[in-house]
Amino acid sequence: MSIKLGELSELVQARYVVHLSDGKRLVLFRLPSIDPSRQKPHESLDGWSYYAMEAECPHAGGPMAESSVDIEDSAYVVSCPWHAYDFNVETGESSVGIKTCTYPIYIRDQIVFLNYPQGGREVRLARLEAVSEKVKLKHDQNSDVLTTQPLNEQSSFCDWAVEILGTADPERKIELTHRLYTVFNEKEVSSSPMALGKGRVKPPDQPPRDGLVEVNPWEIQNPGRGGTVRSRIAMLHALANIELWAIDLAIDICVRFATFQTERNVHELPRTFFRDWLKVANDEAKHFSLLRTRIEELGYYFGALSVHHGLWESATRTAHDLRARISIIALVHEARGLDINPMTIEKFRKAGDTESVAALEIIHHDEITHVTTGHRWLTWICDQEGTDPIQVFRSNVQKYFRGGIRGPFNEEARLQAGMDQRWYKIDNAVTA
Ligand code: FES
Ligand SMILES: [Fe+2]
Ligand SMILES: [Fe+2]
Repeated sequence: MSIKLGELSELVQARYVVHLSDGKRLVLFRLPSIDPSRQKPHESLDGWSYYAMEAECPHAGGPMAESSVDIEDSAYVVSCPWHAYDFNVETGESSVGIKTCTYPIYIRDQIVFLNYPQGGREVRLARLEAVSEKVKLKHDQNSDVLTTQPLNEQSSFCDWAVEILGTADPERKIELTHRLYTVFNEKEVSSSPMALGKGRVKPPDQPPRDGLVEVNPWEIQNPGRGGTVRSRIAMLHALANIELWAIDLAIDICVRFATFQTERNVHELPRTFFRDWLKVANDEAKHFSLLRTRIEELGYYFGALSVHHGLWESATRTAHDLRARISIIALVHEARGLDINPMTIEKFRKAGDTESVAALEIIHHDEITHVTTGHRWLTWICDQEGTDPIQVFRSNVQKYFRGGIRGPFNEEARLQAGMDQRWYKIDNAVTA
């Protein structure tokens, strides 16, 4: 009935994936106790509460280990990264009416136990996997090299965003992004959440770059098929460049459209909008760090090859309209990434480069959630405005994307992100 998960002194990460011997996967959350004065069995004396729930979202299998955490009515609620269904970590209940399984945790003699129905068989803990943000920073969080000045305790979300966008140094950009993500989320569950600072600051027209040789997209040398190290470095370098722009794109959407209001039924963007895109930005920072690390392990460095800023041109073209921005960046470019990633991963696998395969698989998995974020917010806006998100998307593609959407499509990954064939199908070709 009870499965020992580990000693309190070992379980110090915010979340773990619990692999059980019967094949079941759960997520173990470790969160600050909401009311430490009334200690419950799943709470430690030093103020931490432990909760366990199914690792897969009951809606469509989204990864609950990557959910965001909120407090509502004095209880922790976690939201699935795919379609944002929310679940109470203790009861498993959701405001949308479905329920996930949660499992009681108790602490005895400094050991954390899981209450798990075993149905006559003996089920053991097979493996405990810490879920870290996996951002490979070069400097530790307290390093002076990456001072956060001019930011301080009073800085708003938008102040941070403009600082990140104005930062040319890639290492400082990913460090600031990761720090904003950490500080913002810590403050979200405190009594003084970070001010958003909507409309107080302006983002740059185009984020600066330093020490990079910029060329036109068509002047970039074809990296080849990945058969040689040189070709694989070129592929990783090109992807790292895209990830760097992707950080700016996710941050820019927050600050540029901070004061956006829906038409007809006037609504401002809720805090979850900012939190969702900050999560995307933090993922992109992680992706850049993974790729930069691989490039260095292969004996090169980021900046050794020329790069282009083709992605930012789409941002410029859609800088006046949030619906267009989401359509082109998240639902055209990022969705195209879902189509291409498996082929790229295969090239690295064929070359026996398993470290790069591991990094690219993490990236692909995260990118599904980015397309989901785009799909969710375009749908939210259209719901408020009484329009059809597919029609809005298609008309934006015609206006702002040259060349049309072409396959082959990764239908499965697109569907996981909420994009069924009606969004991109050939016989209704979405073309310019
Ligand atoms: S809300 Fe979790 S998979 Fe849809
Ligand atoms: Fe990415
Ligand atoms: Fe992305």
